Amino acid sequence: MIRTPPITQAFPVDRRTLIKSAGFAAAGFAAFPLAGCKAQDASMLDSTDGSNPLAIPPLQSGEMEQGARVFRLSLTPGQKEFVPGVASPTIGIDAPYLGPTLEMRRGEWVQFHIDNKLAEGATVHWHGFELPAAADGGPHQLIRPGERWSPSFEVRQRASLYWCHSHLEREAGPQVYAGLAAPIYVRDDEEERLDLPSDYGVDDIPLIVQDRVIDGSGRLVYPLSMHTRMMGVRGNRIFVNGTENAVFDAQTGQLRLRILNGSNARFYDFSLEGDRSMQLIASDGGLLDRPHIVRSVRLAPGERAQVIIDLSEGRPLRLLATSPESTMGMMGGRGRGMMGGGMMGRGNSGDASGDVFQILDIRPARSAQPARVPTQLASLAPPDPSSAVRTRRFVLDMGMMGGGMSINGAAMDMNVINERVPVGQWEIWEIANASMMAHPFHIHNAQFRVIDRDGRAPPPLETGLKDTVIVNPREQVRLLLRFEEHTDPDLPYMYHCHILEHEDAGMMGQFVVVKS
Ligand code: C2O
Ligand code: CU
Ligand code: CU
Repeated sequence: MIRTPPITQAFPVDRRTLIKSAGFAAAGFAAFPLAGCKAQDASMLDSTDGSNPLAIPPLQSGEMEQGARVFRLSLTPGQKEFVPGVASPTIGIDAPYLGPTLEMRRGEWVQFHIDNKLAEGATVHWHGFELPAAADGGPHQLIRPGERWSPSFEVRQRASLYWCHSHLEREAGPQVYAGLAAPIYVRDDEEERLDLPSDYGVDDIPLIVQDRVIDGSGRLVYPLSMHTRMMGVRGNRIFVNGTENAVFDAQTGQLRLRILNGSNARFYDFSLEGDRSMQLIASDGGLLDRPHIVRSVRLAPGERAQVIIDLSEGRPLRLLATSPESTMGMMGGRGRGMMGGGMMGRGNSGDASGDVFQILDIRPARSAQPARVPTQLASLAPPDPSSAVRTRRFVLDMGMMGGGMSINGAAMDMNVINERVPVGQWEIWEIANASMMAHPFHIHNAQFRVIDRDGRAPPPLETGLKDTVIVNPREQVRLLLRFEEHTDPDLPYMYHCHILEHEDAGMMGQFVVVKS
C-alpha cells in the first residue's frame, strides 16, 4: 500500500523567496491578477511566516452577442510551481492551472466555445446546472484534441457558486487533479436585492480548496494504486485557488467566502480558529431561507457553502479545516469536528486525519463596519415528500477492497441507461450506503432538497438546494427532486459518487429524462 507523506503545517519558505514574491501569487498562479490586493511590502509578509497572497481567479463575464452571453475558452496544457522553483505539468482553462471565475445571470442564455488544446480528450461538465443532456459535458460529450465544443443553455439556477470540471470517462480524477476545473458565479435579482457582500475579490471571494500530493522533489504526483482507488487520492498539502498558505487582506468589515471543495476525495470540516462563529448563508444551489450561525461546515468533494465572516473587531482570523477521520465511520460526526482548541496538530497517518489545515489567513482592514446579514434570505418552502409520485432507491457499494464500485450492484456502463425518469414529476430518491466509507452522491441536471437522514432532520447546510450530498456508512438519505424542463430519450445524465476515484472506478449510473 502506498502511503502519502504526512501533512506539514508550516511550510518553510525562506525570506528571500518571500520578498521576491511580494505583490503577486508566489505559488505559480502569477497569471492571475490579485483582485482586491494592493502591492504588499515585504515587512507585511514577514509578519506572517511563509504565507502567500491568495490568488483570486480573474472574473470572466464573456461577451453579449445577439442576446446570448458568449464565452470563448481553451483547455490548455500548462505548468505550475506548487513548490517555488519546481514546475509540474498541469491543465487549465485559459490559464496554467484551474480557470477564471465564469460569471453569468439567471435567465440568460449562455453559449460556450471550448477549444481543446490538450494532447488528450477532455470534457467540461457544468456542475449544478439544469440543462439539455447534450450540453451537460458528461462523458458522452467528449472533446477530442484540436476540436471545439459549443454547448448553449439557459441559466435556470438561482444565484450561487457552481463550478465546471472534467468528466472524462474513467479519467475525471487525473484531469481535475491536474487543474481542469473553474468556479462559476451565477447572479440573480433576488439575491441582489438583499445587499449581501458581492464585490468580487474584495468582500466576496471564491475559495477552491484542493489537496495535492507533492513529492519530495516538489512535483505534483497523482498516485494511483489499489489503496488510492479505494480511499480516493488525498494530498499531503492544501492549496486554495492554487495558493499554499494563503493570506487575504480584507478591506471591509464583513467577508463572504464561497467555499468549493474541489478536492478529489478529501472531506473537510471548515471552522474559524478560536471557535468563532460564522453565518452560513448558502448551500450548493443558492441562499438558505435564513442565515444560520455555525462553528463548522463539513464539505465533501463537489459540495459548496457560503459563509459571512465578521471582521469588524479588527483582529486577524484564520480559516482552518480538519479532515473527518479518514471519512470512515462518519456516523454522527456532523457536529463540531475534531479540532483540538486551535492546535496545529500533525499526524503521521497518510490520510492525515485529525490534522488541522490552515486554509486562509484573513487580515482585517483598519476600520470597518460590523457585518449586517439580513435575517431573511431566500424564500424556500420546506420539502414536501407527499408531492412525490414514486420512490427510487440507489445503493452505493465498494465491494471487497474497493474492487466492486457500484450503484445498485452495477458499475457504470456507457451503454446502459440505468433509469428513465419522467420530466416534471416529483420523486423521492433514497440513497443508501452499504459500504464502510462515506460517499458524496451527486445528481446532474437538478437541485434537490434533503428530506431526512435515517429519518432525522438534516443539518443547516442541507436545508437549502443541493446537488451533492454526503451519505455516511450504513446511512440512508432521502432526497426530493424533479427534473423540470429538458428531455432526451437517448442521451443520459449521470448520478455518481463525487470522490473522483470512485466515479472513475464505476460508482456512477446513467439516467435519461423522458416526456411524461
Ligand atoms: Cu461535479 Cu458529475 O460531477
Ligand atoms: Cu455534476
Ligand atoms: Cu465514493
